[in-house]
Amino acid sequence: MRKRLLAPFFLSALFLAACGGGAKEEKKDEGAGIAPAEDHSMVAPQQSGQELMDGSDCKTCHKPESKLVGPSFKDIAAKYELNDKNVKFLADKIINGGSGNWGEVPMAPHSNFTEDDAKEVAKHILETYGPAK
Ligand code: HEC
Repeated sequence: MRKRLLAPFFLSALFLAACGGGAKEEKKDEGAGIAPAEDHSMVAPQQSGQELMDGSDCKTCHKPESKLVGPSFKDIAAKYELNDKNVKFLADKIINGGSGNWGEVPMAPHSNFTEDDAKEVAKHILETYGPAK
């Protein structure tokens, strides 16, 4: 008799617990979905060209105004007009490195840069040090 009374009680308690748990999880999901800070950083993780350069080794070989191991950014910006073709060309050079355009000393490859990052950097150099400015 006792067992019979307890069984449904026990079952419904389990059921409620399961439901409660489910509801809580749903709320958690909702919260994560709403959090705009998280989503935002997922959509716009891109660092600026300057930040990317600051985080890399460019300045060991390049200076803004004067030649070091590589050409100055001003010279680079004077040589290449700001357009999609040049941005892509310089982005590839930043990623793959190479020599021949300024002399025999090769530019170091930066294979850790994505195409988009490298383009951002190339654009930044041409925009910031270009004659238009
Ligand atoms: C080890 C030295 C070194 C480092 C580090 C370096 N560069 Fe260079 N860079 C060079 C040299 C040397 C050249 C000239 C290459 C040539 O003659 O084609 C050059 C050329 C360039 C050019 C012009 C490419 C061309 O074909 O005209 C750009 C743009 C450039 N570097 C950007 C960068 C950026 C951005 C970084 C950092 C992510 C960087 N460099 C790091 C040495 C370096």
